[in-house]
Amino acid sequence: MVVRVQAGALLVLLLLVVVASPARGEVTERSATTVATAPETPLPQRLSETGLYGADGASARVVGADTLPFSPQYPLWSDGASKRRWIRLPPGTFIDASDPDAWRFPVGTRLWKEFAHAGRPIETRFIERLADGRWRFATYVWNLQGTDALLAPERGVRALPAPGAPGGLYAVPSRADCRGCHEGGPTPVLGFGALQLSPDRDPQVPHAETPPPGHTDLADLQARGLLRLLPPDVARTPPRIAAGSAVARSALGYLHANCGHCHNDTGPLAAMDMAMLQSVADAPGSARRTWASLYGKTSRFRADRGDRGDDAEAQCIAPGRVDDSTLLQRMASPHVMSRMPPMGVSIVDVAGLQLIRQWILDHEHLSHLKENAP
Ligand code: HEC
Ligand code: HEC
Repeated sequence: MVVRVQAGALLVLLLLVVVASPARGEVTERSATTVATAPETPLPQRLSETGLYGADGASARVVGADTLPFSPQYPLWSDGASKRRWIRLPPGTFIDASDPDAWRFPVGTRLWKEFAHAGRPIETRFIERLADGRWRFATYVWNLQGTDALLAPERGVRALPAPGAPGGLYAVPSRADCRGCHEGGPTPVLGFGALQLSPDRDPQVPHAETPPPGHTDLADLQARGLLRLLPPDVARTPPRIAAGSAVARSALGYLHANCGHCHNDTGPLAAMDMAMLQSVADAPGSARRTWASLYGKTSRFRADRGDRGDDAEAQCIAPGRVDDSTLLQRMASPHVMSRMPPMGVSIVDVAGLQLIRQWILDHEHLSHLKENAP
């Protein structure tokens, strides 16, 4: 499989050389300087040509000085892979945060996300804003020596041998999968926003990462002048999910990061009426909306009730019947056809499941006090 990926990538590289006839050095230089202004530029064939390593760090695999590392406070569960993420803005540009829930990124913005198992990088994903405003998506698969990564085929790689990954195999998503998650809501950039980068971090959410020194956040971006026009009230108080308890806060954050990019009020699945994104412009409103869109809400999905019969209507969160809640059933399902999220996951996130279960139970316990609040 590895051989096939590399052969495919080499073939494309060969075609590129035939069409454009650049020397190797020129390819690197072109992608470093002109990608932002020329949308038709083909995707770089190697990660080292995407600009991650700056002008001269490519051979040493040292991330460029103008490339900022970041860690979203609510990470996506990806079968336990460890991740690193970076952003690079073109010199002299800034992010427009006037809509605090959907930042506008300058043309030429690039973001990367590396996935590793057992201390070895496997895949580095890349998104870039083009001159016409569209975003493009690509991913690069690392060689076994860890010296460089090659552009993966558009269809992804279904089962890449990867020591440390569950079952020793790793699924590289297709570009359609990238768009399925990244273009399903108000902004294609999912982990780099006001809530995710708030200095007021949730310490309890499953798989929370403590950002190492030097990782950027909301305050740092503003201080550097890289983030402007943030509404004054959001700038004054670090954003935080509006919830009545620590468990509810983490649960809403977990759904925000793992489900909200598909289940929200603006994207292609809006008609499903399941709203799992949290807003910083209206934090209490979005938290109430999430709860109201799940609790006691009739589910289209037929829950598997085993021998308990099929009399009661299936509900996303079934009041008083945690184990009948399709939200939990879909998260815990052993079947790929019914498991949520529907892609990017092959093993159930036990800690995430436990958190959502606890949230629902707590709510049952306190429902006489809380009425319809999360
Ligand atoms: C199952 C949904 C899903 C799929 C499929 C997916 N992503 Fe993401 N991606 C996310 C989420 C959620 C985040 C933010 C949370 C995090 O990083 O843990 C993210 C973060 C990123 C980031 C960091 C910038 C950002 O948006 O926060 C990059 C770069 C990225 N993804 C690229 C890709 C590419 C390229 C593909 C396809 C090869 C892809 N992703 C497939 C959900 C997905
Ligand atoms: C990549 C997009 C995507 C992500 C991410 C995603 N879902 Fe879904 N979800 C769907 C689609 C599409 C459907 C409708 C088809 C189906 O039922 O399989 C659905 C259906 C559901 C249903 C059934 C709704 C009903 O009316 O019966 C539940 C419950 C659900 N999702 C929960 C979740 C949870 C919880 C998460 C996060 C842990 C999540 N989903 C993440 C796309 C997604």
